[in-house]
Amino acid sequence: MVAYKSKVVERIRLPSRERRAAALEEAGYNAFNLAADDVFVDLLTDSGTGAMSDDQWAALFRGDEAYAGSSSFDQLTSAVADVMGFERLVPTHQGRGAENVLYGALLSEGDVALNNTHFDTTRAHVSNQGAEPVDCPIAGAHDPETDEPFKGNFSLERARAVVDEVGAERVPLVIQTVTNNSTAGQPVSVENTRRVRAFADEIDATFVIDACRFAENAYFVTRREDEFADATVADAAREQLGYADALVMSGKKDGLVNVGGFVATDDGALFERCKQRAILYEGFPTYGGMAGRDVAAMAVGLREAVEESYITDRIEQVRELGAMLEAVGLPVYEPVGGHAVYIDAGATFPDIPADEFPGQALVCELYREGGVRGVELGSFAFPETDRPELVRLAVPRRTYHREHFDHVAETAEAVLEKRHEVAGLEIVSNPAVPELRHFTASLEPV
Ligand code: F0G
Repeated sequence: MVAYKSKVVERIRLPSRERRAAALEEAGYNAFNLAADDVFVDLLTDSGTGAMSDDQWAALFRGDEAYAGSSSFDQLTSAVADVMGFERLVPTHQGRGAENVLYGALLSEGDVALNNTHFDTTRAHVSNQGAEPVDCPIAGAHDPETDEPFKGNFSLERARAVVDEVGAERVPLVIQTVTNNSTAGQPVSVENTRRVRAFADEIDATFVIDACRFAENAYFVTRREDEFADATVADAAREQLGYADALVMSGKKDGLVNVGGFVATDDGALFERCKQRAILYEGFPTYGGMAGRDVAAMAVGLREAVEESYITDRIEQVRELGAMLEAVGLPVYEPVGGHAVYIDAGATFPDIPADEFPGQALVCELYREGGVRGVELGSFAFPETDRPELVRLAVPRRTYHREHFDHVAETAEAVLEKRHEVAGLEIVSNPAVPELRHFTASLEPV
């Protein structure tokens, strides 16, 4: 059921078909290079693209811009304690700032970090410390068709195999990402979190939860895990996060703000180390790279994120988009995750081979047909891996309505009608770092 109405609106415009074709060519068939003004429904990411509430805008106005000891920081501290259960926090400019602060404090050259699946920036920050990121998704996590409740879980079996191979002393860090963004936004059960906690204790590692989408994950816990059938989303979230030694958070997701993040921990020694790194890389530890007003808005947003009416509307909206796309015949990753609908582009375009990037072709055709922008997460974004050819349509929070989704579904239907005429793509200019090529590479139709 819808949980809000509009107080401020932003105009959007569907450029003409000719303009869309020209924009696509100018962008080198890479949606990251499109001007946002040329996009009609923007599903590139759910990160920092949502709408704030009137209470958040009010908090923004009251933000305390003091360099040290800002009252906005006190509000955030109290929100993090109430909502997430941690007493100490180090604010940062966004999630990757928190990753740099925390993983720099925990990792050294030659270490191994385990994660259900590393998000791109997490992987990059682990590598940046000279450590090796190893993914431990469960079997079937990358299969778009198996309908299991917690496909985002961390595989203890894989983690144990890695520890047997490299030795426990090389694994000081175990991370659990909730929900699991790189595995189609799939949730993680509290039962799995408890087992990962016990495993981290066994090998004497620090257990970190990447809590970017903690409220969305907690919603699934209350709906799919029997033990939490009568719990509130707020209670389930606190229970799950409480097993971690520390959290890394991007406020741009379940903080319901446009910018911001933090590290939270109850470990006094780790907190001190993070604080020192934050001063070096982010800012004084009561603002940490954010304006005081942004800190204040996040303090309100975190509390709103676990309100039942908000989170139910949020997850149902994403599920609705998934159902609408499925109804027009698009092969949707099952079950639909928390923040995005993932589409199996390999099955959408069976005539386009993997080395001609079916996912990127789908991204381009959704834009060409309807000005809809998504992101490829298949062989273009992740060269040399055996991931499925997925395209992500991420839903910004509290931003779009049913009419926008009708348009996305009609666009998808038009793309499907000409599926056998769509050409694959080849890369014509490649940046130096292959892992980051999908942000800047240019392509051309084959
Ligand atoms: N961890 C996860 C699981 C994420 O999804 C992201 C960002 C980050 C960390 C980094 O946070 O962007 O605030 O620096 N994900 C965005 C996305 C960019 O589109 O999925 P950030």
